[in-house]
Amino acid sequence: MTNSLTTHPIHPAVPEDAAWWRHAVIYQIYPRSWADADGDGIGDLPGVTARLEYLRALGVDAVWFSPFYKSPQADAGYDVADYRDIDPLFGTLADADAMVAKAHALGLKVIVDLVPNHSSDEHVWFQAALAAGPGSPERDRYMFRDGRGADGSEPPNDWHSVFGGDGWTRVTEADGTPGQWYLHLFDTKQPDFNWDNEQVRAEFEAILRFWLDRGIDGFRVDVAHGLVKEPGLPDYDAELHILDGEVQPGAPKPPMWDQDGVHEVYRAWRKILDSYGEPDRILCAEAWVRPQERAVRYVRPDEMHQAFNFDFLQAQWRAADLRAVIDSSLAAADSVGAPSTWVLSNHDVVRHASRLGLPVGQRRPNGIAADDPQPDRELGLTRARAATTLMLALPGGAYLYQGEELGLPESTDMPASFRQDPTFIRSKGEEIGRDGCRVPMPWTKDAPSFGFGPSEASWLPQPAIYGDYAVDQQDGVAGSTLELYRELLRVRRERQLGTGGLEDVDGFGDDVVALVNTGQGQRTLVLANLGAEPVALPAAATVLVASGALTADGLVPTDTTVWAAL
Ligand code: NOJ
Ligand code: MG
Repeated sequence: MTNSLTTHPIHPAVPEDAAWWRHAVIYQIYPRSWADADGDGIGDLPGVTARLEYLRALGVDAVWFSPFYKSPQADAGYDVADYRDIDPLFGTLADADAMVAKAHALGLKVIVDLVPNHSSDEHVWFQAALAAGPGSPERDRYMFRDGRGADGSEPPNDWHSVFGGDGWTRVTEADGTPGQWYLHLFDTKQPDFNWDNEQVRAEFEAILRFWLDRGIDGFRVDVAHGLVKEPGLPDYDAELHILDGEVQPGAPKPPMWDQDGVHEVYRAWRKILDSYGEPDRILCAEAWVRPQERAVRYVRPDEMHQAFNFDFLQAQWRAADLRAVIDSSLAAADSVGAPSTWVLSNHDVVRHASRLGLPVGQRRPNGIAADDPQPDRELGLTRARAATTLMLALPGGAYLYQGEELGLPESTDMPASFRQDPTFIRSKGEEIGRDGCRVPMPWTKDAPSFGFGPSEASWLPQPAIYGDYAVDQQDGVAGSTLELYRELLRVRRERQLGTGGLEDVDGFGDDVVALVNTGQGQRTLVLANLGAEPVALPAAATVLVASGALTADGLVPTDTTVWAAL
């Protein structure tokens, strides 16, 4: 192959001094599982603060924290009882301030999770709603309805909970009689707010200001596509899949997702964030919305800044699928002037080092149990490294999930008695759920709880093999996954791949994803080989980073991604 590649532009560069969120790499900390300072087996904010240098050395730009607010923890903190306080499990507001101050001193931005679709049933507003009774202004802040049937004993409509079971729960009124029903798209302990209520809108605007005033750089918005429901709450007798975003072809548009009215909320929020000046404070949508043309409406210029690209996360390990999703997501994002925001793992999906070790083409499972078909660990890691190497070469922002930089596999041998995900409980074990990707981090192989905390305690059991993946086993070890991530982030920054233009390269065949990133006016060839045969690089290409070893004669083997200077 010669050095003159035939390429087609698929995405224009943005200026190198573009706003930080257009190209940032953001690391997700799942607070209960990152670092435990007090030894109670649950990660906490002092634990985070003590280890922030690790993230600085990794080379990320920002950290996103899953919820650390006061919460009964019915959904690991996505059931918030007080949006303005920290749960004692994680520390205090002073601990949060100290953590933010240190992160900022290290040059890391801090993004917190905002959960506006629902609160905890232990939130004062919900308790007031229960006490105040039908028709009260307190009830109007949530989705209370009378039941159907002569005695109101049937739920108001047929919506299911995303976690399994009914989407409605009936309350007992103050006088002891069976009463109204309230909607919860998730757990019974997560009542949905009524976003037609002005007090709800005002309250969340005040919550935004509370955290912005504390110096927070942005918000990841939970279930961003769910706040507004179709008027009249029409029946929708289908299983609800938020986590895979799938709507059966031909099925009517779900009345609880992606309603047009939701955008007004984000326009109001954007104005508040913009009023804080530069550098930009940001909103990132967790919106499981298809197709891409609908999804990018959340990142129109006067709405949010970022939206997770879940189509990329869900793509099968096939070159054609990856090429198609890269092309279509950049085109959709470009149509509204937004960056694409790439992601491969988070606290809701099977870790990609395991997901990619499952047979290609099958439906992605929601959790893996010991008696399920097991992922091929070695293949999964090889592909995960190749997938990340591809992802971090793409223009736009990217999110990393704690532990993926170690190549951590999903925990698949967890005894059912440990599982805490409401999905597992509400579906009576039919859905395994998300505990397997939430297991505490291994830091040190030969230490209690693999160095997660000072004691043996760990709220979910750590698989024995996690010791081999510990940070201290990989730090400074050439070829380790941790060193690969550090190298990728260093070269990505050096060559400004996050703001580069992207070109598609011809001539490498169907099983290869071949792209050129034009960051910093240089040409970086990105080649992911998903085919069975090794692939030759162009003669003058100089390899910068590779997700795995090349063959003895310098070819790119199967399931390997290379960055090369042209
Ligand atoms: C999405 C969050 O990522 C998930 O963990 C949570 O269970 C649901 N939203 C409900 O808040
Ligand atoms: Mg702790």
